[in-house]
Amino acid sequence: MTTPRMDAFWMPFTANRDFKQNPRLLSRAEGMHYWTPEGRQVLDGTAGLWCVNAGHARPRIVEAIARQAATLDFAPPFQMAHPLAFELAERLTELTPPGLNRVFFTNSGSESVETALKIAIAYQRLRGEGQRTRLIGRERGYHGVNFAGTAVGGMGPNRKMFGTHVAGVDHLRHTHDLQRNAFTQGQPEHGAELADDLERLVALHDASTIAAVIVEPMAGSTGVLLPPKGYLQRLRQICDKHGIVLIFDEVITGFGRLGSPFAAQHYDVVPDMITAAKGVTNGTIPMGVVFAKQEIHDAFMQGPPGIELAHGYTYSSHPMACAAALATLDTYAEEELLTRAARMEGKLQSALHTLKGLPNLVDIRNTGLVGALEFAPRPGAAPGRRAFEVFLGAWNKGVLLRAAGDNIAISPPLIINDSQIDQIVSTLAEVIPTVE
Ligand SMILES: Cc1ncc(COP(=O)(O)O)c(C=O)c1O
Repeated sequence: MTTPRMDAFWMPFTANRDFKQNPRLLSRAEGMHYWTPEGRQVLDGTAGLWCVNAGHARPRIVEAIARQAATLDFAPPFQMAHPLAFELAERLTELTPPGLNRVFFTNSGSESVETALKIAIAYQRLRGEGQRTRLIGRERGYHGVNFAGTAVGGMGPNRKMFGTHVAGVDHLRHTHDLQRNAFTQGQPEHGAELADDLERLVALHDASTIAAVIVEPMAGSTGVLLPPKGYLQRLRQICDKHGIVLIFDEVITGFGRLGSPFAAQHYDVVPDMITAAKGVTNGTIPMGVVFAKQEIHDAFMQGPPGIELAHGYTYSSHPMACAAALATLDTYAEEELLTRAARMEGKLQSALHTLKGLPNLVDIRNTGLVGALEFAPRPGAAPGRRAFEVFLGAWNKGVLLRAAGDNIAISPPLIINDSQIDQIVSTLAEVIPTVE
């Protein structure tokens, strides 16, 4: 197969010049594997990009998309609708914690974040607290790439080029603590008190100006940071005390990644809104979801008849995305995939922690079907070089992983088996000592 011309495509979150010198192309996928155009098989250790939770090319989902394309390709979502959107919303609320039973559709994680933040500000206004416009994120958080998501996000390189984003944002301290928590298996013991940082921001800005706090219950894109035991509970208490809307960004943790449908259930903390995307359609058709507590939704359903929320996207509840999502939920249910990570966690944990002691490895973290290895930065080199070279080494040996700063993240499809976990870990054991 000839390599395509590569000049025109400006690739996202990619070292374009480097990539185009040494492209890494994928041309086919099935189950746990990708294939390159040359026919090389690659084990998918990242569920695509944290989204292909049921594995690739699942026939039920493929057929549902094809059928829907031929039946109803598009329906306008403003002042019109199609039946699958209602069916899907009802089905989704069977998976959320009690009370989070209202569903707004978007097309991506980034759009879900913007939507949730706008709903939070509007909700505060509707309950007579219109001065609450401030949004609080957390250092090292990732909430997509639109302006508000960039603002509440806490990863420096994603923020620095884009001016002041949106006004009135502040950040909690992150929870990463190598000194106290390195090489913890599962949830770290130390750091619940870091939630009290919200009290610092309340003292600084006054609660009466703060609309919402948004956090990833487990921070994924920054390199897999688990919440310390008790941290999320404390954050919930402080939000309640001060009338602040708590949003969990579950774009990565939603749909079974930690062993429960959502991290909210896994950590037993119920937020006021959940943002999701990715796994809702098994990565096949773009779709995002915002789940809101009924009382938030109901605050909008007052006053004279008319459009209650002036917000939405042309492709909100796209028929093909709805069909894909319904078939995805059937697949998850039939194979009990939304709880499978809990059953596989022990295997991943014990395999991954055998790597302790390899050169430059300063931490190993795991929860559900997520793992991370953190490397000391190479002195004098650009940040993340060691992790990137481990990623390249694994790719060359037929395993797709993800480099995130100084970390390697592992997040395979939830259908992974024991020997495939062993393949990922033995590949890492071979590659890590070769990286200086
Ligand atoms: C927690 C979180 N929020 C938001 C996003 C953005 O999602 P998208 O890339 O679909 O816009 C991501 C993507 O990885 C994410 O992990």
